[in-house]
Amino acid sequence: MTIQWFPGHMAKARREVTEKLKLIDVVIELVDARLPMSSRNPMVEQITAGKPRLIVLNKADMADKRVTEQWMQALRADGVDVVAVDAKHNKGLNQIHEGALRLMKEKHARMREKGRNPSAIRALIIGIPNVGKSTLINRLAGRNIAITGDRPGVTKRQQWIKMKTGEMELLDTPGILWPKFDDQVVGYRLAATGAIKDDILNIDDIALFALRELKTRYPEQLRERYRLDEVSGEAVDVLEAIGKKRGFVSGGYVDFERTSEMLLHELRTEKLGRVTLETVEEWETHA
Ligand code: G4P
Repeated sequence: MTIQWFPGHMAKARREVTEKLKLIDVVIELVDARLPMSSRNPMVEQITAGKPRLIVLNKADMADKRVTEQWMQALRADGVDVVAVDAKHNKGLNQIHEGALRLMKEKHARMREKGRNPSAIRALIIGIPNVGKSTLINRLAGRNIAITGDRPGVTKRQQWIKMKTGEMELLDTPGILWPKFDDQVVGYRLAATGAIKDDILNIDDIALFALRELKTRYPEQLRERYRLDEVSGEAVDVLEAIGKKRGFVSGGYVDFERTSEMLLHELRTEKLGRVTLETVEEWETHA
């Protein structure tokens, strides 16, 4: 689904998330492990203020393991509870339930002191489009649920989905938030990983951006994939060399659009290996 974020939509999305927050104990904020900051909503802290929050680095199977570990350490050092999972292949999801229990520990202890038995933890999954919210809800529920999102004019009764563990319930419609569009680099990072649709930005520009990132961060993976002797030249020259290697040439010229589409497809489907496009260090100097 393509979502165009205009100020009116943003206000509506925020209102909807705020309404849902009233019903729950814990927020499960899903982010893309390949872009732990760019795939967050810039105002998420403000929007979810007052609710215990677990950050889930999803798509960890596609991210650079070493960098994911660094992100987790940095976030934990900041007092944030964070786990890394792969919702698509059902890996590490027990950590979500454990994390929610951790966040509710003190409240549950107080309830028990008063002789009350804590009821199932009610949680809401929030995140930007395409981060894996529907996939995660289905995996946690252990069955496929039609997740339609909120449609204008259709008021849907909120339903609770019992998780396999039984001690936790999820709201069946996730909270959709918008990414930080006003920062160009953030936009290109999201586009490179496929989080935002290609028609928003020019495909060649996204591919050249992705190539610059890969040349700097993962030169070996790039070299190996396309059997290039070197990748240190200008991104446009590397793109041309890749096009030639793949035989995307007509009339003596490399077809840049086709090469760009192929490169992005391969980046998004892990053919280029596991990659993370932002590090803790860069984010600290950027912020
Ligand atoms: P959303 O509700 O937040 O918008 O995201 P959704 O669950 O629809 O997931 C978006 C895409 O991300 C889907 O791919 C989904 O399979 C993929 N995905 C979700 N979690 C993970 C994960 O942990 N690892 C990996 N590798 N992929 C994940 P798609 O290509 O749109 O659909 P499909 O062909 O995979 O079904």
